[in-house]
Amino acid sequence: MAKDKPTYVCSECGGNSPRWLGQCPHCKAWNTLVEQASEPNATSKNRFASLAGTQAVQALADIEASDVERTPTGLEELDRVLGGGMVEGGVVLIGGDPGIGKSTLLLQALDALQRAGQNTLYVTGEESGAQVALRSRRLGIDGSRVQVLAEIQLEKILATLAAHPGGRPLQVVVIDSIQTVYSDALTSAPGSVAQVRECAAHLTRAAKASGVAMVLVGHVTKEGALAGPRVLEHMVDTVLYFEGDTHSSYRLVRAIKNRFGAVNEIGVFAMTERGLKGVSNPSAIFLSQHREPVPGSCVLVTLEGTRPMLVEIQALVDNGGPSPRRLSVGLERDRLALLLAVLHRHAGVACMDQDVFVNAVGGVRISEPAADLAVMLAVASSLRNKPLPRGFIAFGEVGLAGEVRPAPRGQERLREAAKLGFSVALVPRANLPKKAGRELEGLTLHPVERIDEALDIVRGLP
Ligand code: TYD
Ligand code: MG
Repeated sequence: MAKDKPTYVCSECGGNSPRWLGQCPHCKAWNTLVEQASEPNATSKNRFASLAGTQAVQALADIEASDVERTPTGLEELDRVLGGGMVEGGVVLIGGDPGIGKSTLLLQALDALQRAGQNTLYVTGEESGAQVALRSRRLGIDGSRVQVLAEIQLEKILATLAAHPGGRPLQVVVIDSIQTVYSDALTSAPGSVAQVRECAAHLTRAAKASGVAMVLVGHVTKEGALAGPRVLEHMVDTVLYFEGDTHSSYRLVRAIKNRFGAVNEIGVFAMTERGLKGVSNPSAIFLSQHREPVPGSCVLVTLEGTRPMLVEIQALVDNGGPSPRRLSVGLERDRLALLLAVLHRHAGVACMDQDVFVNAVGGVRISEPAADLAVMLAVASSLRNKPLPRGFIAFGEVGLAGEVRPAPRGQERLREAAKLGFSVALVPRANLPKKAGRELEGLTLHPVERIDEALDIVRGLP
């Protein structure tokens, strides 16, 4: 048999190439291809052999639709993003920056599950058992019956899963983290793409076969993607991301993918000395407190998942050098460039020679285009050094032609703003409530259709 040639795998996207290249042919990232000795591969012949035993074809209507059973973790905010709780045989990948609280959250969840009678196992590859114990004391969960295994070798972990620690089949397992797990059967180094991918595949298969709910913890690269192959995201059922500013105490957990629930649902936590506490009413936590309105600040109502939240957008526009900078935290930078172009072309507000910095307060990441109007108003306000009125909010998407488009579920957003005592709202005309007219629960509504109109209205407000 011919000797297997090495293949090259991209550490960003997991794509293959038969030879080394400076740039990945799949995701176009530079310098990411690493050598991987080809693993003994299933030949096409025995792949079909394994398919030969598959079930007969059935009409969709004849297949019984069984709803998955969920086990609530006891942490309400986590259950919300999971779609109700852990699912038997379901695999969850949870990513986030180091130190953001992944291990803390999972230890708390496991303890709550164990107390509810589940058989749980925490596999730690980054910390020793003693360190985990120390953390559990800090969390105030001493006397916890969660089983801990300090192990990084895949085969030993799989053997432990099969051995039913605790005297009965395991129900929930956490692997902290998948990047530390390695298999002896592979020649590549621990932490390499091939290792992470293979180990995750084995663990996923073990979870599906035994019905244990599994959580894999993954590291995040500087760019914010889960380190190692993106293929991990395809393998698992649910992908959660931890976000938030490590300097502030609030943390968001967001579902990026969920086969068992809605995506883009978020859970909100506050980091305290005794671990993470759920924040059940998060709508006002991303506002900073100004005694008087300040230039460059505009509050927006975003709708993340099912809950509206108020987030302050801050902009600073200042004289730039020959190549002015555009920087955004919590918002897409490309989107900012686009909005500045629209602002210039359709509203005559020019920032070409200015540095523009934009920030969403509190480390939240906003991906919905409904933030456009607030970003543009904050930029214009900073440029003119004129604050927006007291108690002002705005939301709406702005198109390339300068039109202001409606945001989904506008009424809910307006109600939330009214509830928190805001008094003036600039909204897309199509979001104007049909019955309420220009007034909604103490909120005066100013409908707009175009960005220049929006700036005119703001200028006319007291
Ligand atoms: P950790 O869960 O170790 O983060 P990750 O696993 O994502 O790397 O979180 C550690 C951080 O949380 C650390 O900076 C200390 C802080 N922390 C608290 O503030 N309170 C606590 O009760 C615990 C356990 C940690
Ligand atoms: Mg950790």
